Amino acid sequence: MNVLAAQGNFLEQGADLIVTNLFEGVTQPGGATGAVDRALNSQLSDLIAAGDFEGKLNETLYLYTHGAIAARRVLLIGLGKQDEFSLERARQVAAKAARTARDLGAKQIASIVHGAGIGGLDPADAARAAAEGTVLGLYRYQRYKSDENGKDLESVTFVEADAAKFPAVATGVSEGTVIGKSQNFVRDLATTPGSDLPPAALAEAASTMAQEFGLHCTILGPEEIAAENMNVILGVSRGSAQPCRFIVLDYTPAETSDQTIVLVGKGITFDTGGLNLKPGDSMRHMESDMAGGAGVIGAMRLVGHFKPPVRVIGLVPASENMPGANAFKPGDILRAANGKTIEIDNTDAEGRLVLADALCYAQRYNPSAIIDMATLTGAVIIALGQHAAGLMTNHAGLAARVTAAGEQTGERVWELPLWPEFEEQVKSDIADVKNTGGRAGGSITGAALLKKFVDEKPWVHLDIAGVDYTDMDRPYIPKGSSGYGARLLFQVVRDWEDGLDSA
Ligand code: BES
Ligand code: MN
Ligand code: ZN
Repeated sequence: MNVLAAQGNFLEQGADLIVTNLFEGVTQPGGATGAVDRALNSQLSDLIAAGDFEGKLNETLYLYTHGAIAARRVLLIGLGKQDEFSLERARQVAAKAARTARDLGAKQIASIVHGAGIGGLDPADAARAAAEGTVLGLYRYQRYKSDENGKDLESVTFVEADAAKFPAVATGVSEGTVIGKSQNFVRDLATTPGSDLPPAALAEAASTMAQEFGLHCTILGPEEIAAENMNVILGVSRGSAQPCRFIVLDYTPAETSDQTIVLVGKGITFDTGGLNLKPGDSMRHMESDMAGGAGVIGAMRLVGHFKPPVRVIGLVPASENMPGANAFKPGDILRAANGKTIEIDNTDAEGRLVLADALCYAQRYNPSAIIDMATLTGAVIIALGQHAAGLMTNHAGLAARVTAAGEQTGERVWELPLWPEFEEQVKSDIADVKNTGGRAGGSITGAALLKKFVDEKPWVHLDIAGVDYTDMDRPYIPKGSSGYGARLLFQVVRDWEDGLDSA
């Protein structure tokens, strides 16, 4: 499926279906929708006057053109209230329109750029959002389907009439397509069954991506991980027959920069809980427990494509968490790469363990900022549901940047307080720290452990257990693994400016 930009008259595109739109409450359509209405003998205004179409957000209606224009069908999509329109809504309506057109069996569709006219959005931003929504909304995971799902779009063309605006629209469409595909790449990785994507395969996928996008990639195996003293990762992987990997993706800009952002993602390719075995229902989707790592790899894909002026490093500790004969045990004490010891209270709190070693590894880059992303706790699902990642931090300025980036990308974050009191809960009697802190504030005590390994650098932890896997079907987030975070992390990088305050 191709997403294209074209300049010209929207009615003259050689498409079998054209998509036009309407804000809620508009009775006399103008612009492109007005032109369609005139070509169709006021059919649209009649439908609106009769109350058949109100323009509510994501409302759809289609009609046949009977030869009045080149396309066989017109699909009308509601944009909601004009003063509530946003980039997020632009993504949604583009997705809804594309999915509806696909269900109708259309092959080639042409669409106006939602919100670029009276919607008031910048044309490049509107076009980027439309392309993102299209690519993300049409996502399907078909690797294991013998019969392809039949109906498939061949192309979606966004048409801009105004020659002066067209270059911005063309740029937006091509950027949005790359961005959407990167998130779909994350979804593919997170959806792949655990046995088909062990740590070595995740590393292989990262390395193949790195070659394609011009990044440097180093993969450490168990011996090299041991040589780095990352004993905690080795401890977590001991119960598994699959050897662990430590993935390092390195982007260094052509012009040297003193700014380095390190992205760290949890790469547990399957989480059984280890000896603290999870019950069946809780284990069912633990193939996506590497979603944070996949999100980091997806963000690095965008870094490779857009080549920003700052250095960016992606780190993914990849391991299975299995209850094999050699598995690490509750009560064991593991020593992390920085020498700190961790008492294992529960082998199911493994994400924070592999991240601890990765955060130690991050220090060698003298990072300006560290952002880690992980499906870390079930507690964050209870706290925030499926609509926001939990954000915990030691640095308000960095947190503000991540929050602002999320407003741009439609990936919400919500801060949970990492007060010093929570650090009390992870104190151990016999080691420097223990890996659980009881049920109270379960997401925050996870962050409290991580904080011990960030060495006072500006740091944000994103707990994405709630936003990653979802059984809801949203316009551009079909049910399954959402691919959350790749766009968000890249947006932070893209908007990066020197001079994050200390503390
Ligand atoms: N991978 C899980 C967290 C998770 C839960 C992700 C549900 C996605 C959906 C994590 O490794 C885990 O098991 N966390 C434990 C921590 C506890 C033992 C302190 C949890 O949340 O129960
Ligand atoms: Mn676990
Ligand atoms: Zn886990």
